[in-house]
Amino acid sequence: MPNWILKSTVQRLISWLPRSHRWNALFQKKISRGYFARQATFEGKLILCRQHLEHYRKFSTQPVENLSAVELGTGSWPIVPIGLYLCGAAEIWTYDLVPLVEPDLLQHTLTQFADAIRQGSLKKYLPGARVDRMAKIQEMADLPANENPVKSLERLHIHVRVGDARHTTLPSHSVHFVFSTVVFEHIPAAIITGLLDEFRRILVPAGVMSHYIGLADQYANVDRTITPFNFLRYTSRQWRWLNNPIIFQTRLRIEDHRHLVRQAGFVLVHEENVLGQPDELRSVPLAPEFSHHPFEDLLVLFSWLIARPANPVEFSPSTEPTGQPG
Ligand SMILES: C[S@@+](CC[C@H](N)C(=O)[O-])C[C@H]1O[C@@H](n2cnc3c(N)ncnc32)[C@H](O)[C@@H]1O
Repeated sequence: MPNWILKSTVQRLISWLPRSHRWNALFQKKISRGYFARQATFEGKLILCRQHLEHYRKFSTQPVENLSAVELGTGSWPIVPIGLYLCGAAEIWTYDLVPLVEPDLLQHTLTQFADAIRQGSLKKYLPGARVDRMAKIQEMADLPANENPVKSLERLHIHVRVGDARHTTLPSHSVHFVFSTVVFEHIPAAIITGLLDEFRRILVPAGVMSHYIGLADQYANVDRTITPFNFLRYTSRQWRWLNNPIIFQTRLRIEDHRHLVRQAGFVLVHEENVLGQPDELRSVPLAPEFSHHPFEDLLVLFSWLIARPANPVEFSPSTEPTGQPG
């Protein structure tokens, strides 16, 4: 059995257990060794954090110092929100359906930050990191890892919320920045629409959204025999059996994401894509579901979509805004 089908099958079995995220964490800890963020992953997330901040600086009129932000999809390692805190953000709310940040995970993440600060490499990734806030992180990294991580993160103005970000309960027009890092690719279109409606509600009129979306077949990370385009060969019906609830991949393509963002009343102000190898895409017989997408769109493996709320002239609920990617 190919590696990726084996992984998908194990995760499908895990998803049937009660409190499946706990069992999956145990599986990662004991077998796949993916529980703690590896150093390369940590550094990769710092680069993504810097890029989120660059987008905010470029497209917002507010300074980062007064920034109040919302993150969709905390995950297990709150590296990007801690990076925002270091660079001066005032308040950060981070939402996840499941409580994934465990005390040992937060301790490990804080130690990674403290090491990077001590070695001088943090400033390379986050040039805007503040001295007083770096000192605070170093102080926290030295504490024993027995405190509730939600309480620890509160000290960094990071408010962890376990729940659906379609219902943040934050006041309307109270947030300057909404961001996500490798999250949209796991969420079905109808739910993305609900999330974008909520983000439109909570963002100030001059607010900014920055979403980093992965569009590659994530099983290609565990199986070198398949390409990042492999999942495009399966019909929706076949994919229902191969997909699994733990790493659920929607296979929405870049044009679908652009459409959802515009349809929710945003103007796309910037788009930046990482493309795969044309030969690898040509080697995959496409399922009919994907044959209408332009070849260049199907080549997209990762995408930054940056958007701002459309003003009333650009958008009314019955018409789509006309903004084009920059
Ligand atoms: C792949 S993880 C991303 C983790 C993190 N952003 C990172 O970079 O490591 C995606 C997360 O999004 C969360 N998620 C999916 N739908 C959500 C929703 N409607 N509201 C809040 N979180 C959601 C999932 O539970 C999952 O933990």
